Amino acid sequence: MKTFSNITALRRYLDTCRRETKTIGFVPTMGALHEGHARLLTRCRRSNDICVLSIFVNPAQFGPREDFRSYPRTRVEDSALARECGCDVLFYPSVKTMYPHGARTTVSVPDVSRSLCGSRRPGHFDGVATVVTKLLNIVQPHHLYLGQKDLQQTVVLRQMIQDLNLPVRCVIVPTVREPDGLAMSSRNAYLSADQRRDAAVLYRALRAAKQSVLHGERNAARIRAIIRRMIAPTGGRIDYIECVHLATLTPLKMLDGPCAIALAVFFGRARLIDNIILQI
Ligand code: PAF
Repeated sequence: MKTFSNITALRRYLDTCRRETKTIGFVPTMGALHEGHARLLTRCRRSNDICVLSIFVNPAQFGPREDFRSYPRTRVEDSALARECGCDVLFYPSVKTMYPHGARTTVSVPDVSRSLCGSRRPGHFDGVATVVTKLLNIVQPHHLYLGQKDLQQTVVLRQMIQDLNLPVRCVIVPTVREPDGLAMSSRNAYLSADQRRDAAVLYRALRAAKQSVLHGERNAARIRAIIRRMIAPTGGRIDYIECVHLATLTPLKMLDGPCAIALAVFFGRARLIDNIILQI
């Protein structure tokens, strides 16, 4: 596995690969890699000649009171996992490399960035869209791999790729879960033992909500209430629970067509997100 922290050197290497007509797959991450990232890398490895991973904790997507400073940074373990997954290239830039003049130009994908996490984390998706545009320009991959857990991120980035005619195909990989259903996330590292046990309620609640839909429930308020009731006895503090249209992410009163139930819940300082997709 080759490691680059310099953009010019990485570009030169990937240009050579492209001249040799090799296909390039790309997995952008913020590190603290887990089984979910491993799944993305394995998919990328299987379908491309060159598998590129980036690790960059992007300051532009964190709010002033969020966890940029304390976000887990586990470089040695990350490199080992990347190597195990057959990654060919690890791009590990510094903040100075990515933003030598600060974040002067911003990419914004207005409508789909507004609901769900976008309404709670102002500027977050501008930060994500901007850094992913920069990374796509640097790596110029054929395929981009994203995890379903970050539902809104997948919708925002797909919209951006379409609107800006970026020549990359986006592949969405299903959420990887712990045996008790908790979605894998780098932020799970913040959970105490009790919080970790409580957090398993999220997927149980999403499944119960899905079950009610399968039994004919369509009313979003009643579906949200099922989830709220299940989370209430735990230490979870609900940030939002929403039923949304899958393509636009606009909140629905009645579920219909392709939709998703999405939630964000705090357990201690860990803000966990999860979702379930429904085709009605
Ligand atoms: O999902 C993440 O880890 C980040 O939002 C991403 C896509 C790497 C952009 O910083």
